[in-house]
Amino acid sequence: MNDDGRSEAWREVARRARASGGIRIASLLRDEPARAQRLSLDAAGLHLDLTRHRLPGEALDALLALARASSLESRRDAMYAGEEVNFTEQRPALHVALRAPAGAAAGAIAGEGIAAEVAATLDRMDRFSEAVRSGEWRGATGQPISHVVHIGIGGSHLGPQLACEALIDHAHPRLRFRFLSNVDPRAFDRAVNGLDPATTLAIVASKSWHTLETARNAQALRRWFAAGGIGHGDLHRHLVGITANLEAARAFGLAPESIFPFRDWVGGRYSLWSAIGLPAMLSAGPQRFRAMLAGAHAMDRHFAEAPLAANAPVLLALVSLWNTLALPGATEVVVPYSDALRSLTAWLQQLQMESNGKRVGRDGAAVAWPTAPVVWGGPGTDVQHSFFQALHQGTGVHPVEFIVAVPSGPDPEGRGDALLASALGQREALLHGRSGNDAPAAAQGAPDAAAGHAAAWLAAHRACPGNRPSSLILLDRLDAERFGALLALYEHKTAALGWLWDIDSFDQWGVELGKQLAGEIEPLLDAARELPAQLAPDLRALLERIRATRASRG
Ligand code: F6P
Repeated sequence: MNDDGRSEAWREVARRARASGGIRIASLLRDEPARAQRLSLDAAGLHLDLTRHRLPGEALDALLALARASSLESRRDAMYAGEEVNFTEQRPALHVALRAPAGAAAGAIAGEGIAAEVAATLDRMDRFSEAVRSGEWRGATGQPISHVVHIGIGGSHLGPQLACEALIDHAHPRLRFRFLSNVDPRAFDRAVNGLDPATTLAIVASKSWHTLETARNAQALRRWFAAGGIGHGDLHRHLVGITANLEAARAFGLAPESIFPFRDWVGGRYSLWSAIGLPAMLSAGPQRFRAMLAGAHAMDRHFAEAPLAANAPVLLALVSLWNTLALPGATEVVVPYSDALRSLTAWLQQLQMESNGKRVGRDGAAVAWPTAPVVWGGPGTDVQHSFFQALHQGTGVHPVEFIVAVPSGPDPEGRGDALLASALGQREALLHGRSGNDAPAAAQGAPDAAAGHAAAWLAAHRACPGNRPSSLILLDRLDAERFGALLALYEHKTAALGWLWDIDSFDQWGVELGKQLAGEIEPLLDAARELPAQLAPDLRALLERIRATRASRG
């Protein structure tokens, strides 16, 4: 289909979305016989239920037509083939190659050499992890490692932390993990509090090796080691690096044996599958890490092979896109009912908002549609006691994504069942609401007119309108395979949305400006320096105030 076809498909979807105001989800569930079959499916061990959206069957047809008109399949194939889908940086986005089984699709995906390189790095990670886990790897004083401090930020932090938490059932009994991302000195103090440098391993993870927070924290940690008696000659026993910038890591002082490399075709927010995942492998072991890769690969295959209408990441993307149009201003609320997935929202925020928070398309012109809804949320049941009130009765409608893992094993206090029942109960409440007429008898049953009024008044306050959309992702259990598949599902959803909007989901130019300005401002904090004449008056006043505050502290 030519671009006119795409524009026409967009107009059709938008027209239907504008007309969707009065739709009742309950009516769709009752009246559309094929709804469950079309909008719920199983993929790579995950069950996805998208039936509870204000999305009628004909609108789904229009969305699928838009997906075809946007050449979704050929764009997906181009990503797998290693073409430069990151068009503003002229790079492939080949995270799928990191989880392709040895000798399988990797050659076809990525061209020469990549499969062997990926396998070699994984093998090195395996050997290193086994050595640290077994205690064969010794620190400078001959003791085994007990604590790992991982330094990194953004994609070099969120994925590894999430994976360590998600695979907690397999965590190594001796190794404890701390994650240091923020440049706030208090974050550093907290990360090393109580640790013995002699039994600590630091991992410095930075694709670019230039990121301010990671660079400063790495220097601080090196100083901390030195103060603890670990000199430069012994540092290789206590500090390793993960990077795509080998030269800079060497300049920092790391020997090649201490560097786990990956390549620039791995985007930061897609990098858990590369050497960046080392903490997860150290914690859960090489076998589980490889199981996580296998689960992600199963989702990669599903995304590559399933027809659009039965393709989990594609359907997830289409429903998300529909909600941006049918519910203007709606955000995406992600609620994993799983303590082990408590950091999923933070990972998803970077994935979806850094990838698709863009306002111009491939041609450089403004995108005509809203992109990248705000993603937020937190673990259930905690968030039921904070923001769920607004989801049930607030004036805004925000679709909720329930991620539920069937809890294993009998629990004497029934906590697992309570967790599961809470997720299902909240989901029912969002859909069905309640009238409010079931108010307490004291207000309802009084005979006189005033009491009748009070009952109606209270009912209005108690009423939940319902008809609030939600999705469900059900995992039979949270194991390494399903965890990998879950993350890959979201990665592909994000890429599919980017292709629908025709933006570059793999660059992140927007984050650069603030970093650059921080670099220009930092020297001006030094009171000995003259403030430049061209400084904006409000910034000058602020800097003068900060300088004066510091001076008054002495
Ligand atoms: O500031 C955004 C960003 O570039 C992310 O895309 C990236 O994940 C993060 O910073 C960390 O970058 P690096 O791994 O190069 O330190």
